Formats: sequence, C-alpha cells, structure tokens
Amino acid sequence: MALYSEKVMDHFRNPRNVGVIEDADGVGEVGNAKCGDIMKMYLKIDDDTITDVKFETFGCGSAIASSSMATELIKGQPVSDALKLTNKAVAEALDGLPDYKMHCSVLAEEAIKNALDDYYSKNPDKRKE
Ligand code: FES
Repeated sequence: MALYSEKVMDHFRNPRNVGVIEDADGVGEVGNAKCGDIMKMYLKIDDDTITDVKFETFGCGSAIASSSMATELIKGQPVSDALKLTNKAVAEALDGLPDYKMHCSVLAEEAIKNALDDYYSKNPDKRKE
C-alpha cells in the first residue's frame, strides 16, 4: 500500500486556499517544536460564517495537505462547526495519514482554533458559550 493516499498527494501537489488575507478577521499561527514546521491560518468571518480562509504552511507535505483540506472543510461553514473540527476529521477527509504524521493534522486544528480565538478576542460580543 502506498504510504500516502491519493487525496494527500493531490492536496500536497495542488493545495487549495494558499495565501494571505490582508484584512482577516482572525489569524492563527502554530508551530511544532519537534519538526519546526509552522502553519498560519487567516479567516474572514461574516455573520458567524467563515466566508473565506487562506493558509501559509512552512512544513512537510502532510502539513500542507492537512492545511489545504482543513480550509476546504471550514470554508462557507458556521463558526460553530469550525470550532469542532478535529485533526482526526482532517486526516479522515484525506483518507488517512501515517501514524507518525498525525501530528501534522494537529497543526491544522490548532491553527484554526487560534485564528478563532484571535477573532473572539477582537469581537468579544460574538462569543457564544
Ligand atoms: Fe512536522 Fe509534518 S513533520 S508538521
């Protein structure tokens, strides 16, 4: 069996939503101290919906594929759904990642959560418990 699924290879070779949103409503950056990889997510939020999302990832192929898939999963979705996105869901949407590459998908989950934290810190009135 191939180490990486076709979906991982596709999102690695043709990542979706790469770039920067200059006037983002929330920005989140995370890194993994062990491998040194860094991921940054930019969110545009309107009326509790993620209207646009872009990412920059300086990291391995699995991190790039995970960021790309994560942006596809949350784009156009309610903020409440994005908050619930887990790294497992990202890895499953990619048809799996090797065990030792699961931490790459964790970066995607954390970067989105950090970006949403940033959004809520700028818009405290929007936070719902
Ligand atoms: Fe570090 Fe993939 S090896 S994010």
